[in-house]
Amino acid sequence: MNSNIAGFSKLTKEEKVQWIAQTYFANPDTALDTIKQYWNSNQKLQQLHDEFIENTITNFYLPMGIAPNFLINDRYYSVPMVIEESSVVAAAAKSAKYWSTRGGFKTKVLSSEKIGQVHFKYTGNSNTLHSFFQSIKSQLYSATESITKNMQKRGGGILDIQLVDKTHELKGYYQLHVTFETKDSMGANFINSCLEQLGKTLKEAAWYYDSFSEDEKEIQIIMCILSNYVPNCLVRASVSCPVSDLAEKKIENPVLFAEKFVQAVQIAAVEPYRAVTHNKGIMNGIDAVVLASGNDFRAVEAGAHAYAARNGKYTSLSHAYIEHDVFHFSLEIPLALGTVGGLTSLHPMVKMALEILGKPSAHELMEIVAATGLAQNFAALRSLTTTGIQEGHMKMHLNNILNQHQATHAERQAVAAFFENHTVTHASVIELLENLRK
Ligand code: MEV
Repeated sequence: MNSNIAGFSKLTKEEKVQWIAQTYFANPDTALDTIKQYWNSNQKLQQLHDEFIENTITNFYLPMGIAPNFLINDRYYSVPMVIEESSVVAAAAKSAKYWSTRGGFKTKVLSSEKIGQVHFKYTGNSNTLHSFFQSIKSQLYSATESITKNMQKRGGGILDIQLVDKTHELKGYYQLHVTFETKDSMGANFINSCLEQLGKTLKEAAWYYDSFSEDEKEIQIIMCILSNYVPNCLVRASVSCPVSDLAEKKIENPVLFAEKFVQAVQIAAVEPYRAVTHNKGIMNGIDAVVLASGNDFRAVEAGAHAYAARNGKYTSLSHAYIEHDVFHFSLEIPLALGTVGGLTSLHPMVKMALEILGKPSAHELMEIVAATGLAQNFAALRSLTTTGIQEGHMKMHLNNILNQHQATHAERQAVAAFFENHTVTHASVIELLENLRK
């Protein structure tokens, strides 16, 4: 088998699929059938998806679910979530409903500043560079005017440009640290275009700066790129209620529940091994809405975890305490999101998701996403500190096991009845199926 190929991207889609099937599968016809089964019969729609990336061979489905009854700032939302993990949407929906009768989620965008940097090398006198920077600062703004014009009309643009000396960390390393307001767009293309122009202008202007020596005129632009670390693009979501109101079917002793819950959050605050899993639970909710709304979940993930480690130790993104018999639970997370541009106007399901959310502004979407993250965290901690996580998780996973073993309708009914009062484990489901099939 030769699995090396030149010019794969130049092949037609059919040729690509043929090559994959012939090269990697003992039965190429079955592989072809499987790949093509996921092609959309609507050619226009398929072409749209084909062109999102290079070398598309097929579509990869993920389910889109709805977590209804999210009461956020006194308004109800049905939250679309795209995720493969079986228990996530159920958990979000359960939390949403629970908090809807306890005052709902309160959210607030604390700041919405984005960041980008021009990283460059300059080995001359630092004071001369600072004087040069001051002398060209207005030129830097005017050089980007054609790019920022439209954004300025929407109330955004470049907020500030700073020269930062990083030579104590790396010889000759300086940067332009640039802050942006991008309103309803995530702004990645806008920011990167501005930065590349700033880099060009900086380099060119250096040639005409008389106080530079010939060597100093040689500013070397290393790269111009936005930062996914956006600690000043921050949103807060919180819930609170009297401890006694926490009671429900599985929370018979609300005081004990609240204390254990707070302790669980405090453990995540001090113990990084726990904090990573704790925050992963938050990201279950965050990523699912970020994906459904056509935003960049890798950017959000990278920024969230960097924020969790901002003080030099990785810690919990959420906080909980009890004060005067009132339970408080909150989350602060940086979220660089957009509701215009990018996939938001291209992907039909993203457009639908945004419509279900009532066509939110970027700020509103930040708030919805943060509330979902907090709801997810609440659901996980509630299970962990009461019944344990496996009960709910395995109940949801039961379907996957049954599907995997092609259970019939009758078998499903028998299995469901049996597990009404038995603990679901993978082995016990298989054993039961085997017994039913004897
Ligand atoms: C599983 O996807 C997420 C949890 O592990 C989160 C947590 O432990 O807090 C349940």
